[in-house]
Amino acid sequence: MNVVALDSYEAACRKVADIFSDHLAEKPDTVLGLATGTTPLGLYSELVKDFQEGKISFAQATTFNLDEYCGLEPRHHQSYRYFMETNLFNKVDICLESTHVPDGMNTNTQDACDSYEQAIQKAGGIDIQLLGLGINGHIGFNEPAASFAVATHKIDLAQSTIQANSRLFNGIHEVPTQAYTMGIGTIMAARKIVVIVSGASKAKIVREAFFGPVVPQVPASILQLHPHVTVIVDSEAGALIP
Ligand code: F6R
Repeated sequence: MNVVALDSYEAACRKVADIFSDHLAEKPDTVLGLATGTTPLGLYSELVKDFQEGKISFAQATTFNLDEYCGLEPRHHQSYRYFMETNLFNKVDICLESTHVPDGMNTNTQDACDSYEQAIQKAGGIDIQLLGLGINGHIGFNEPAASFAVATHKIDLAQSTIQANSRLFNGIHEVPTQAYTMGIGTIMAARKIVVIVSGASKAKIVREAFFGPVVPQVPASILQLHPHVTVIVDSEAGALIP
């Protein structure tokens, strides 16, 4: 595991953008694993800039997002499909049919999860997966638990996650309580993983996840066992790194 601490959020985003841009330039038909949340916003701006400057193309790329809220229409302003279209897909040359986000409106849990796993397999697996880090150590929506959930599954969101994400809704009562998420096994099967973490509120969990024991109570700690992980933190998130 390679942990890189940079001075600022902007520098962290640029560094991750370079990793993704280089990857796309080398392998235009890359299968990208993508994340939502506040942290990747600066990264997506940098990738849009790289595209506008003619450095990269997404025309041959395929994408799979980590997760989606259950019960939110794709057009809902807080759905992860809407987030991806607004912040990346509609600003670059990606073919929308090649973009995948779990179907939060599919009430058949088995079908929603199995079909997502099958689509990833059919695409040849994920070449490079982007991750953010929840303040409770979650990756995707794999919340702290007694064991690691392997495949894509439906999860009850932790109260701390609902609380953290309520800043984006008109009140906590509007935040969905369940989501579909890639499993830990799905994430660990990616050939490369890049984690971006920013801000003082994440400093404690950065130390626990990447320098503490590997335990399902801190889901991101499993990444210590992956052979190709790069963690990029800004100085605030990296403040407690030993
Ligand atoms: C989003 C996701 C989550 C976020 C995490 C951090 O697709 O999978 O694990 O990466 O909750 O979110 P922010 O960046 O908003 O702090």
